[in-house]
Formats: sequence, C-alpha cells, structure tokens
Amino acid sequence: MSRFFDLVSKPARDMGGYSPGAPAPSREVRPQLIKLDSNENPFGPSPRAIEAMRSTLAAVNTYPDDNCSLLRHKLATEHGLRPEQVLVTPGSTALLGLLCQTLLGPALNAVTSQRSFIVYSLAVHAAGAHVIEAPMRDDTFDLDAILAAIDANTRLAFLANPNNPTGTMVEAATVERFLARVPGHVVVVLDEAYYEFALHFAAQRGVTYSRSLDYLRQGASVVVLRTFSKAHGLAGLRVGYGLGPAELLGYCARMRNTFSVSSVAQSAALAALDDQEHIQRVVENNALQAEALWQGLNDLGYRAVPTSANFICCDLGEDAAAVSRRLQDEGVGVRPLGPWGAPNCIRVTIGTPAQNAAFLNALRRVAERGFIVGSQTLAES
Ligand SMILES: Cc1ncc(COP(=O)(O)O)c(C=O)c1O
Repeated sequence: MSRFFDLVSKPARDMGGYSPGAPAPSREVRPQLIKLDSNENPFGPSPRAIEAMRSTLAAVNTYPDDNCSLLRHKLATEHGLRPEQVLVTPGSTALLGLLCQTLLGPALNAVTSQRSFIVYSLAVHAAGAHVIEAPMRDDTFDLDAILAAIDANTRLAFLANPNNPTGTMVEAATVERFLARVPGHVVVVLDEAYYEFALHFAAQRGVTYSRSLDYLRQGASVVVLRTFSKAHGLAGLRVGYGLGPAELLGYCARMRNTFSVSSVAQSAALAALDDQEHIQRVVENNALQAEALWQGLNDLGYRAVPTSANFICCDLGEDAAAVSRRLQDEGVGVRPLGPWGAPNCIRVTIGTPAQNAAFLNALRRVAERGFIVGSQTLAES
C-alpha cells in the first residue's frame, strides 16, 4: 500500500503533524471571515515594517545575511547581551526544532505540561525523543509536577509563559524557585512568545512577569524565546529569536538551514523594533479588549480564564468543535481545544473591538439556536 513507509525514519512514521488554524481565506471564498483562531495581531505590522519590506524587495535576487548580523546586534544591545547570545530563526518554532535536534535523541526526553504549546511535542518527536507532559493545576502550570517528571534522561523542559492555549502566566518569583531546583543536565526553555502582552498585563496588575534575562546573565541554562509573530504583527514573515548561552546557541546554529531568515523578514523585524508606538497601540487594545471579551463571555454564562496573552481560553460546556463549526458559518474562526484534551473549550484571539463584538454576537446567536442539535451534529461529524 505504501512505497515509503519502511524507508522513512521512525519519527517521520510515528508523528501526527501540526494542524494549523484555518488558512487565510481567499477574498472570493470567505470575504468577511474574522480570523480569531491563531493568536495573530489584528492590526497587522507597523507601517515602518511595511516600508522596510518594500525597500528590500528589489534586492531579493541576492541571498540574505545568514547570520542576521544587524538584527542580532540590535537585539543584543536592546537586551543587554552579547550578539553570540542571540540566535535569529524563521519563527521561534524553528528554534524549538533546533534545540530538540541539538539536545535530544532516542532514549532522551523533554518535559512540559499538559495543555501547552503543541509544537513542543512535535519538535521532540521529530528528534526521535519522548515527551513527558506533567499534569496542570487550575489551568496553569504545576511547576512541582514538572520538576517531579524530570529524570536522568531529560535534557529540555519547556515553559510557555504565558501559556498557549490557557493564557495563564507564571510569576517571576515562581519561575525562580523552579529554576533553582532544576538539575544541571536540563536546559529550560522559557517561551515568551506573548512577552509584550504579558508585560503590559503584569504592570496593570502590579505583579512581576519575567526576569528571564537576569537568569541568563547569571549563567543559568535557560533559553528565552521571543517572536515577531505576535505583538509585532509579522507572523507571515517567519522571524523569531532565542536568547541563551553562547555555546549552546552555537551548537543550535550549526544545525540550522542556511539562509533560513529572508532578507525581507530581517529588514521588517529591524524596523518593527523601532516602532514602539505600534506595539503600545497593540498591547493597549489587547488589554482593553481582553476585559471586554472576558466580560462578554461571562455575561453569556461561560467560564473564561483570565488571560495574560492575546487570546482567551473559554469553557463552553459543550462540544467545542461543533460550536466552532457553527461560528465559522457565522463568519468567525476560533480554535476548538479538543487536540489539547479540552473538548469543551475554545481559544479565541483578542481582536479589534469590532471583531470581538462580532464574535460575541455570533456566539450568542449560536447559543440561542442551541449548540448541538442531535442529527445535525451527527451529520457534521
Ligand atoms: C507559546 C508559543 N510559542 C511560540 C509560538 C510560535 O511563534 P513563531 O511564529 O515565532 O514560530 C507560538 C505561536 O502561536 C506560541 O503560542
């Protein structure tokens, strides 16, 4: 039946693969689909980034700078690190893959939590290793359970902070206590993809979000992941970076594809870093709209988890995949969390005020009609 099954590597045979949200709809097919399923930035990139991309286009006949030197230096300066402590990759997920290829292999494992970023287990499996998922407690990480899951074969521990898909954040003091107890043979990945949003929320709430770069400066075995995909609105370009020990990032760099971060992406990222006003507008909208969305969901009678990111996790008390299909019919895309083991929950991106109002109205209409109408649901599934 299959020509290649016996030829491909074991990880390629065994892996399930990533299922992204709905692809951006073509204008003809779904002109008005409101895409709240992938934690993207509803305001798009900074105008400065767009201008920078335009000015790079005429030179795309030449290969990009393989070391992303300008961007790397700028990031190093901004974070008070040396350039060797920065590695730019095509999205931070690419660095997850490099870390797994560099540190893992058969018989080794990585530890993370249940209901966390799905790419962790994909990257670990692709490296032929095992993933151990510690249980969650109250929609957030149980760092004691993660510690307890670490064994002699563990090389990586992943903490998404804030976590995707729950949106919950672990405060700096808690991370510090965790790091103090992690054994020396384990590299901790502090995935801060939603850093700018979390920082804003933490300031509002009077808590300390992250001191991750301090740990790095003190010589801890941590790699901090950041991305231009979220607050900077450049998800489609694929550019992110890791901040970590120079030696470890050097090994990761050996494993990467050459010229993997395009010149267009590098120039856009450089320009995006300079547009703090854009970031400010994005995080302020996000915080205001998080409140409106959370309240709207509560008013409809649903339990929504308070968020520190640009999305909200909400328990609908019903089959979320069926509700999501209905919402899609109403013109709104959200992510059902069945693949995360939460079949009654959705994750909805915090959009513009108009998008969020449209989502809440659509959800109200779907709820009023009743989510699951026996035969119709059967026919859908
Ligand atoms: C926790 C987490 N890390 C990393 C990423 C991916 O970022 P990038 O687009 O840089 O690969 C995401 C994206 O959704 C995420 O939720």
